[in-house]
Amino acid sequence: MERRKFIKTCCYSAIGIPIAATLMQSCGGIYYATTNRINGRLAISKSEFIQIKKDKKINRKFVLVRTEALDFPICIYNTGENIYSASLLKCTHRGCELNVGGGIYTCPCHGSEFSITGKVLEGPADKNLMTFKTETDYENIYIYVS
Ligand code: FES
Repeated sequence: MERRKFIKTCCYSAIGIPIAATLMQSCGGIYYATTNRINGRLAISKSEFIQIKKDKKINRKFVLVRTEALDFPICIYNTGENIYSASLLKCTHRGCELNVGGGIYTCPCHGSEFSITGKVLEGPADKNLMTFKTETDYENIYIYVS
């Protein structure tokens, strides 16, 4: 193999492998949870955050839910011990659906970024995401979605 061709191949591999790993990681983390309506609230069992892989218990950091009332999914993010944040995955710039991964929400349309609690980190969006009040009990997480 020519030296130039070898260097080119190495460079593509060095760039491509981390990108592929990141994409696979973000794709593998998307999970839509089952919900119930309880007293007008959306209820998500805490067990939806547990994943069994090769007999190992893994905690999901977030799950997505869909409701009939909203055109975009809601991301329920576990931000701490029994603390959850619920944000609508609709970009406040021009309404594209956000991606979840790497501990932030990113917009594929023009690059805005939001924290997992819905705060703008990077424009062009200048408004925070729509968020929903959450409560928990021993079994469930409740989201106040009208
Ligand atoms: Fe999200 Fe423009 S629609 S940054």
